[in-house]
Amino acid sequence: MKKIHISPAGPCVKSVNVQGDKSLSHRAVIIGSLAKGVTKITNFLEAEDTLNTVKVYSDMGVRIEKKGSAYYIYGRGLFSLRQSKKELYVGNSGTDIRLSLGVLAAQNFTSVITGDGQIENRPMKRVIEPLTKMGARFESNDGKAPVTVFGGSLKGIEYSMPMASAQVKSAILLAALHANSKTVITEPVKSRDHTERMLKYFGADISFRGNRIRINPGEELKAKPVFIPGDISSAAYFAVAGLMLKDSRITIKNIGLNPTRVGLIEVMKRMGGKIKITNMKDKNGEPVGDIVAGTSCLKGIVIKGAMIPKLIDEIPVIAVAAAFAKGRTVIKDAQELHYKETDRIETVVKNLKRIGINAAALPDGMAIEGSGGKKFKYADIDSFGDHRIAMAFTVAALASDNGLLIKDIECVNTSFPGFFGLIASLKGKK
Ligand code: S3P
Repeated sequence: MKKIHISPAGPCVKSVNVQGDKSLSHRAVIIGSLAKGVTKITNFLEAEDTLNTVKVYSDMGVRIEKKGSAYYIYGRGLFSLRQSKKELYVGNSGTDIRLSLGVLAAQNFTSVITGDGQIENRPMKRVIEPLTKMGARFESNDGKAPVTVFGGSLKGIEYSMPMASAQVKSAILLAALHANSKTVITEPVKSRDHTERMLKYFGADISFRGNRIRINPGEELKAKPVFIPGDISSAAYFAVAGLMLKDSRITIKNIGLNPTRVGLIEVMKRMGGKIKITNMKDKNGEPVGDIVAGTSCLKGIVIKGAMIPKLIDEIPVIAVAAAFAKGRTVIKDAQELHYKETDRIETVVKNLKRIGINAAALPDGMAIEGSGGKKFKYADIDSFGDHRIAMAFTVAALASDNGLLIKDIECVNTSFPGFFGLIASLKGKK
């Protein structure tokens, strides 16, 4: 297991680029594989998770090529996938397995899909249940991977989701594309809507407003070029570093700013963060812009309700910002954190305590007493094999007394190869 000592940093005035958005990269491969024609993807995220999605769809007979820096998906339309000769393997990717379960449910062949140890511990019942209502059959390890999918002809459903989950919503939408009648989904709180936007961009008969989505099957998807903007979940580490470090300003360029993903920016502003967006533009149905974050005196706040899905993946680094802020931060309504790569309520609180912060786990979140800008104390950090824990505490190390030792860091490659190099570059000249 690899480990790295990260030493303190700052002041830092710097402009950085992060790689393509993970959620959008998965969707471009999956939707491109179901569309007719050649989908050219630029700025595709080349990380373990998304390359596993490329492999899964190649294993089902889709020709996928990299030419120069672009990926080309040679889609042959709905119902053109072929049965894989072997088990489909998603590695660590929850998005790949859950969205693919929706696709596999509609195929006229049987598939087995699985992933690594963390994937085998994450709940799949949440997708198996609605897909069963649509007419597919499954065998699983009590609702967990490996899952055998007995695909077949599906009917549309009216489904009221019990939790806010873009993965569950997307699995149903991808299955619904292949069904013989309309599907209507209602979410308790709106989650990221990338699938809806991309399906619309590819010509699907889909409409969405507020928490309700309606999709009519029957329309063939037409291949389209897709530019993937920078990942706001990756940008978040650099934005929080910019806010915490002395005399600093960090600009992160060309980031996807879909309103369902910008909770980090909204919350940092409420905490007193000097964070703004510049150069806004539209790229294939998704807003894109630069994030500029400068040294700030952060203060503790309450984060809850409809805000949570807009920043669910950023909670580990938000917790680090809260630990540096003045006063108490409480995060509520975030029970979904229990079901991520690790139980992030537990893994965040454990590591915050190690760096000298008074933090407590709550059933649906956490409470953090901020240090008021006092530097974190030296500790060994365990990522528990969770990329977002490793990266969040790397940012904490930048604002520490004597650095931090981050252990078990290979997991960072699932979403952000090159992360540690970019962190090291913060310490260099402009
Ligand atoms: C994702 C949805 C979210 C998020 C995950 C990516 C997606 O998961 O945490 O990292 O791409 O749809 P849930 O659907 O479980 O909330």
